[in-house]
Amino acid sequence: MVKRESHSSDHLTGGSPRKIMSTKLATALAAFFLLASIAVIIAIATVQTHKKTYLSPGLKYGIVLDAGSSRTTVYLYQWPAEKENNTGVVSQTKKCLVAGPGIAEIDADSWKNLKKCMDEITKAIPPSQHNSTPIFLGATAGMRLLYLKNEDAANNILLAVQKYLRSLPFNFQNASIISGQEEGLYGWITVNYLMGNFLEKNMWNAWVHPHGAKTVGSLDLGGASTQIAFTAPDDATGEDLIRVALYGYEYNVYTHSFLCYGKNEAEKRVLAKLAKMSTNWKRVNHPCYPTEYSITVAASDIFGSECTKREVPATYSPDKNITYFGQSDPARCKDLVKNIFDFKSCQGKENCSFEGVYQPPVSGDFMAYAGFYYTAWALGVKGSNSLEKFNSTMWSFCSKTWTMLKKNHDITEKHLKSYCYSANYVHTILADGYKFNADNWENLNFQKEVNQTSIAWSLGYMLAQSNMIPAEAKLLKLPIPNSIFAGLLFIFSALIIITLMFLIITLVRFCF
Ligand SMILES: *[C@@H]1O[C@H](CO)[C@@H](O)[C@H](O)[C@H]1NC(C)=O
Ligand SMILES: *[C@@H]1O[C@H](CO)[C@@H](O)[C@H](O)[C@H]1NC(C)=O
Ligand SMILES: *[C@@H]1O[C@H](CO)[C@@H](O)[C@H](O)[C@H]1NC(C)=O
Ligand SMILES: *[C@@H]1O[C@H](CO)[C@@H](O)[C@H](O)[C@H]1NC(C)=O
Ligand SMILES: *[C@@H]1O[C@H](CO)[C@@H](O)[C@H](O)[C@H]1NC(C)=O
Repeated sequence: MVKRESHSSDHLTGGSPRKIMSTKLATALAAFFLLASIAVIIAIATVQTHKKTYLSPGLKYGIVLDAGSSRTTVYLYQWPAEKENNTGVVSQTKKCLVAGPGIAEIDADSWKNLKKCMDEITKAIPPSQHNSTPIFLGATAGMRLLYLKNEDAANNILLAVQKYLRSLPFNFQNASIISGQEEGLYGWITVNYLMGNFLEKNMWNAWVHPHGAKTVGSLDLGGASTQIAFTAPDDATGEDLIRVALYGYEYNVYTHSFLCYGKNEAEKRVLAKLAKMSTNWKRVNHPCYPTEYSITVAASDIFGSECTKREVPATYSPDKNITYFGQSDPARCKDLVKNIFDFKSCQGKENCSFEGVYQPPVSGDFMAYAGFYYTAWALGVKGSNSLEKFNSTMWSFCSKTWTMLKKNHDITEKHLKSYCYSANYVHTILADGYKFNADNWENLNFQKEVNQTSIAWSLGYMLAQSNMIPAEAKLLKLPIPNSIFAGLLFIFSALIIITLMFLIITLVRFCF
């Protein structure tokens, strides 16, 4: 056996000089091809991994002022300049909370606070970038309400704010009241942009539409309004449905904003209801406030709002006081809060939330942020939980006395006293209004940020207003389809393996 093998090997290697030559030539060629292939692969890999450093001319910045009903928040965003049309690249680098009321009630002090925030933001941007940094202001429900009440007052505030923003060293874009529908849509864009639902990097480092991707719904709870937005079935139509094209895909987004259903305005409506039912404003019982707690408020703080004007009693005068006494009564609190919702207009109607508003059935996951998040956080049920858990936690929170609440929570008194009310509000709007139930409550995620960037309409607003999410995805598509690219890579790898095997076999034969 051994002999025969060595003989046959002798026969091959010790053959004619021509055969030896051709074997050597083939080996050399194969070796060359292999080395060349490896060199090409290394070159591609190097270019891919160093692409960032080759193309990075620096950062870009954008500023958005979210002029909310209870306060203004200034956001500073940044992103790598060459990636401005990619998804998920914009991040929040600074957030400044302007102390004081919202711009609808702007006074000398809040002007000072606004300027303080803008100084801080200005310092965070390199001076050479100032004049290329866009700045936007969007005012929401607080200003929508003022506009309804006094159009001139609202316009004068906007003009004053515009004048101030134009005086800053930035590239002024817009300062206006955005509609509730815009607010809802921009919130939805923010959520899905931050979660990378529009586009994702595939294994070849190219941007593609995620296979079978689902978008996440958006639930925003502000001080004066609340917004819901989610992708509806294609056949859903109506004034609350908007078709938006993002990165080459069209989405049918349902969105509705409920004015006067924000956390603070809805609370005023609760307080108004109680005061209206009471004959003695020196002692009004409040089932949502804790026992041992009482507070005196001016009647104008409650009845001065556009949202309570239909509740104003005949005996009303603005300088009257109303004193509320807490009762820690979860069952009556729930009934009371449910009472400020108009469910009657939906009776007998299918696909109706409240106030007679059409809403397709909720589907998929939802991000519940802003006031929704803070309420869940105060109860200790942020993230995802069951409806049962939310209800039982709320029930026990609402049963506690003021002393017990203060002992167990490190929250300012101003906010702590109201969390039982807001828990009931959140439970009611989600379960009775939007129709979340025991089966899909766990699809709700109570969260306030993604990758340290706040979930807020302001990011989606900037992206949309500066065309940073193109309707078409031309720029981002691979030159060849993914499947062909994968096929080529497979054939290429197979060729290398075959060459390698040929080389090894030849070498083995050559040596023995
Ligand atoms: C981003 O898209 C806009 C509009 O489609 C285009 O004008 C701009 O050049 C793009 N920017 C980059 C860096 O590709
Ligand atoms: C400013 O923003 C408002 C609300 O988003 C929009 O209707 C308006 O067209 C914008 N104006 C400009 C000049 O972009
Ligand atoms: C209402 O209460 C404030 C203090 O909270 C007090 O200064 C004011 O005199 C009261 N007004 C009336 C009409 O009782
Ligand atoms: C309600 O929504 C469901 C699911 O989208 C749909 O099948 C049904 O036709 C809708 N009903 C009405 C009255 O629109
Ligand atoms: C919430 O929990 C309370 C107390 O455990 C219970 O009485 C009530 O029926 C529950 N409500 C719902 C809607 O599950």
